[in-house]
Amino acid sequence: LDNGLMKTPPMGWLAWERFRCDIDCRHDPKNCISERLFMDMADRLAEDGWRELGYIYINIDDCWSSMERDKEGRLQPDPQRFPGGIPKLARYIHDRGLKLGIYGDLGTHTCGGYPGTTLDKIHTDAQTFAGWGVDMLKLDGCYSNSTEQEQGYPLMSKALNATGHPIAYSCSWPAYQGGLPPNVNYTQLGEICNLWRNYDDIEDSWDSVLSIVDWFSDNQDLLQPAAGPGHWNDPDMLIIGDFGLSLEQSRSQMALWAIMAAPLFMSNDLRTLSNNARAILQNKVLIGINQDPMGVQGRRLLKEKTHIEVFWRPLSDSASTLVFFSRRSDMPYRYRSSLGKLGYKAGNYKVYDVFTGQTMPALTDTTNFTVSINPSGVVMWLLSPTKLWGREGEH
Ligand code: DGJ
Repeated sequence: LDNGLMKTPPMGWLAWERFRCDIDCRHDPKNCISERLFMDMADRLAEDGWRELGYIYINIDDCWSSMERDKEGRLQPDPQRFPGGIPKLARYIHDRGLKLGIYGDLGTHTCGGYPGTTLDKIHTDAQTFAGWGVDMLKLDGCYSNSTEQEQGYPLMSKALNATGHPIAYSCSWPAYQGGLPPNVNYTQLGEICNLWRNYDDIEDSWDSVLSIVDWFSDNQDLLQPAAGPGHWNDPDMLIIGDFGLSLEQSRSQMALWAIMAAPLFMSNDLRTLSNNARAILQNKVLIGINQDPMGVQGRRLLKEKTHIEVFWRPLSDSASTLVFFSRRSDMPYRYRSSLGKLGYKAGNYKVYDVFTGQTMPALTDTTNFTVSINPSGVVMWLLSPTKLWGREGEH
């Protein structure tokens, strides 16, 4: 969507995967969906170095609203859990240099059973969100049929634009249409949405991450061309720092999300994050790769019989990134290849290992190399061509 927003994939924090529809503030005050949770996370983004790295969105998901619209037919937050109201929360977040995202659902109800946005309410809800100072809307698609979705998603895009307030627009539409053409029209989506969920919800497990990576890679010929500055595929939230992933698997999720030019919305508890998780999520070079200004989504290049997969993404200034991914479960696997075999042009390349932080001896396209990839882990390289043959460190 050409509204000047999200020229690179958006980054921030989203409540859903980690905190779901926990509304039991009496027994679980620190974790329930309430203004306190979002203020806590805003404090963490602002104070723990996240904001400076680009993690600026604080996004509310389902279960924030009251079960009833107000007398004028407007959505309103649950009064017990959001006593200050959304404008005050928006101010709190803006005061910290961050942006606020909110959640709606095109349909009679949200997936969690809260009031939805039927076609006749689209204008009202867009105006309400803009009036509150909201910076982003995720529009879910429970409880609507495909005809209503075909009308509603473009209509909301227009209604948001008409508010005169810059509001980024995340569409769950394709996820409700099977995610693939001909049901999904990616040209149209790129025109009306800044990002869109294509596939299933992520869960706190490695199986879930794998099924997402497989689906996006198996369908990359259809999906990869759809992404670009201002319009991104969204394989769903980062679950790094939660309970389901090992250290290797956490690195793999981050590396593969960077390959996919994916939005980086963490859904974790930033108040109790481990140092390991923090180091992965705050890896500057990795974030730089995800945020590459050229905005070309990467691809899976190879799926070896040995259960090693190689991913590649082109970056600006002729740089590129390679991810060697092991689907094995035995021991570190020594994978042998050369840049030429991976499609690189003749030349000399500087190689930086994104997770070890080491610059490696330069490679030519014909140099054979071996990488040792841990089970369910990755080796990730940032490569840039060097002009002078045989001289390391030049560029
Ligand atoms: C389905 C969406 O795909 C999830 O991300 C989340 O928003 C839930 N609905 C909320 O009910």
